[in-house]
Amino acid sequence: MVNNKWINAGYACEPVDENIDLVAEIKRLVKQKNAVIMAHYYVDGAVQDVADFIGDSLALAQQAAKTDARIIVLCGVHFMGETAAILCPDKKVLVPDLNATCSLAESCPADKFAEFVKSHSGHTVVSYVNTTAATKSVTDVVVTSSNARQIVESLPEDTPIIFGPDQNLGSYINSITGRNMLLWPGACHVHARFSVEKILQLKAQHPDAKILVHPECKGPVVKLADKVGSTAALLKFAIADTAQEFIVATESGILHEMQKSAPDKTFIPAPPDDSTCACNECEYMKLVTLRKLYLCLKYEWPVVTVPADVAALAIRPINKMLDISSQLGL
Ligand code: 13P
Ligand code: SF4
Repeated sequence: MVNNKWINAGYACEPVDENIDLVAEIKRLVKQKNAVIMAHYYVDGAVQDVADFIGDSLALAQQAAKTDARIIVLCGVHFMGETAAILCPDKKVLVPDLNATCSLAESCPADKFAEFVKSHSGHTVVSYVNTTAATKSVTDVVVTSSNARQIVESLPEDTPIIFGPDQNLGSYINSITGRNMLLWPGACHVHARFSVEKILQLKAQHPDAKILVHPECKGPVVKLADKVGSTAALLKFAIADTAQEFIVATESGILHEMQKSAPDKTFIPAPPDDSTCACNECEYMKLVTLRKLYLCLKYEWPVVTVPADVAALAIRPINKMLDISSQLGL
């Protein structure tokens, strides 16, 4: 167990010898401990580079469900670790910094959401994966931005639906499916920051650039898009499309893999509306560093835990999502 002296609010923080080769040590520990490192596209590029698997939220859940490793290190935010812990109760799931929460998940407290659900009886409850395990426990089916459209369309047309917590994703799904889902008023503070004006300024400077937008962005930003999709869908589009330049309206960590996968193309991060900084970063994702990843593997800490009663309820909507996704080949 990590020395108490070096426990600091959710991550191991003992000094690390600066001469140590962190990448080599991480790889050695992964092998020695039968661990697997899974990383989301928004974490620091150096962490993505040492991961065994990188993906969007759906792919991370799918990979967690099928891994044989003894330890899963989820380099992402807390709800991603919770999903892995719920799917793999026999494995140790670590997140290098437990402070890596998510403003969208936090915008939907489970008790308030449960009251909302109760006051709209007869509705099917569809929750975005960016929720706490407790919120998932009052949900009928979970979705990610990769499968939300297909899962909503799989429900009978006259089904009344509650969709939470992302009102931007919910409005987008309403607009493309013709449904009229009741939306919980939550949002991601990173994606809500993109502005039409700044993207149009970039477009004026790069008229041939295609605009890639994550559906957590506000409606007017989504309307500018040549492609709307999850991180994995935006990456796939950028690799396959004939355009040479792309304006990217999602968290800027995705540019690392875009640039690696399509080195001859140019990726321009769309800036937030409220600063002069060129990139829009999720400060929670950026809490995951190589140093914390190394210490987390060394001490097998901090562990993500989900109370058994919550996990027993939350696994049903997660498995429902995985089942529908696999039936649809997603
Ligand atoms: P993806 O599922 O598209 O990777 O999105 C996760 C996320 O947190 C977006 O902000
Ligand atoms: Fe949550 Fe937004 Fe960060 Fe994604 S980018 S993890 S939705 S706060």
